Amino acid sequence: LAELLSGLLDLSSRGDKALARQLTDKLRALITDGRLKSGERLPSSRTLARTLAISRNTVVQAIGQLESEGYLTISRSRRPVVGDSVASADAFTSGADARKRSPAFRLSPWAQHLGDAAWPPVYRGRPRAFQPGFADEREFPRHIWGRCLRQAAHRVRRHPRQGPNDPDLQQVLLKHLAVHRGVRAEPRQIMILPSAQAGLALVAKVLIRTGDVAWMESPGYGGAFAALRAAGATVCGLAVDRDGLKLAERRQAPRIIFVTPSHQYPTGCLMPISRRLDLLQFSNRTGAAIIEDDYDSEFHYDGRPVAALAGLDPSARVFYVGTFSKVMMADIRIGYLIVPEALVDAFELAQRHIGLLADMTMQAALAEFIERGAYRSHIRRMTRLYRSRRDRLVEALASEAGRHLSFDIPAGGMQLLARCKGAIDDVKLSLQLQAAGVITRPLSEMLYHRSSQRGLFLGFGAWNEAEIDAGARILGAHVRRS
Ligand SMILES: Cc1ncc(COP(=O)(O)O)c(C=O)c1O
Repeated sequence: LAELLSGLLDLSSRGDKALARQLTDKLRALITDGRLKSGERLPSSRTLARTLAISRNTVVQAIGQLESEGYLTISRSRRPVVGDSVASADAFTSGADARKRSPAFRLSPWAQHLGDAAWPPVYRGRPRAFQPGFADEREFPRHIWGRCLRQAAHRVRRHPRQGPNDPDLQQVLLKHLAVHRGVRAEPRQIMILPSAQAGLALVAKVLIRTGDVAWMESPGYGGAFAALRAAGATVCGLAVDRDGLKLAERRQAPRIIFVTPSHQYPTGCLMPISRRLDLLQFSNRTGAAIIEDDYDSEFHYDGRPVAALAGLDPSARVFYVGTFSKVMMADIRIGYLIVPEALVDAFELAQRHIGLLADMTMQAALAEFIERGAYRSHIRRMTRLYRSRRDRLVEALASEAGRHLSFDIPAGGMQLLARCKGAIDDVKLSLQLQAAGVITRPLSEMLYHRSSQRGLFLGFGAWNEAEIDAGARILGAHVRRS
């Protein structure tokens, strides 16, 4: 046995783990591997010390530690013995054996639905043109943001908050949304969350009962589909036309309607006021809640934006969702959800229960960033930049693939839908493009009703002109071939 140990215990006096700890770890490994079996006796501490050429004190320490962990039993003047059933217990908790044996857990319906929804799409490697949904982080004013964060670190210490939502941020954000998006609410109605997606999931979780019907735009946002479906809704896609979601008489009234009226995802169209009023009337008549996802409507290129539904709704059935990840950068994991006054307590309870809490220092920094006017000036600057990138992409696509693709030029936002004129397999095309280094999202994967529409969804915000031109050249070459 002593030989076995001396072979295995190549203790290194230069290792950064103290000798006693090395010996403990190696002995424990011998036991858990089954090389030292239950009931087997170790050599005496004196013999071990001699064999391993270390001090007896080190051996005593290691053995004492393993005794306290339950791997060894020590009784007076007897050699330490490997404890009962430790090896078999460990076989369950360590290594490949345990993985092989681990039972296949049955997933909850919630997790199964999430798996079926196949959202979000996974892209490997760093973001590349034309991955949708990205702001240009290279343009973000990090020096100002850094100052806001520093100030926030002190502010949080001076004014510890009680609830999950920073009242200063609620105040300044509401002021911003009231002026620029026409939103009407009280500050306490704003839940500050880690993302807009968290807002969608929270509404779905709080309002939906299994089997409830939810309507969403088709083509539409996969994140909304996933949140609604996972919560147990039967999701029904309603076709969008040039004015956005078109209401249709259906047998079963919906419990929730998901819309992106200011910049429809992914077609980019804007829902005119008449249709907005129709939608509100419908919700009033049927009792359906409306989720208004205003994800990137801070960026407007042509004309003034239409006021949000959340500002037009006297009956308070609109849940308004927004995010800082598009205006600022994806790493700022903060979004928000405005809920009807009567539901503030229920939503705050759910928010705390699920732990959908946004970092307090980050919230304070954002309040500071908005208060200083840095948020508005960043939006103004990025609006000019994104408008020129949108125009650049449209130009480049027209010259590279104008015969095969058509597009409506979006009046806002950071992405554009290029529709295929012929019967192109957009999933296959998108995969080929991905292999060639260009990211796109196929339109057919965003459809929630039966439709033969095909196309590619392209983000243009995060890429400079050279990147847009290079991406468009590759895209054009593939489209022309398919
Ligand atoms: C329509 C829409 N809603 C919501 C989101 C999610 O925003 P967040 O990153 O804050 O979850 C996105 C992100 O791409 C989006 O495109």
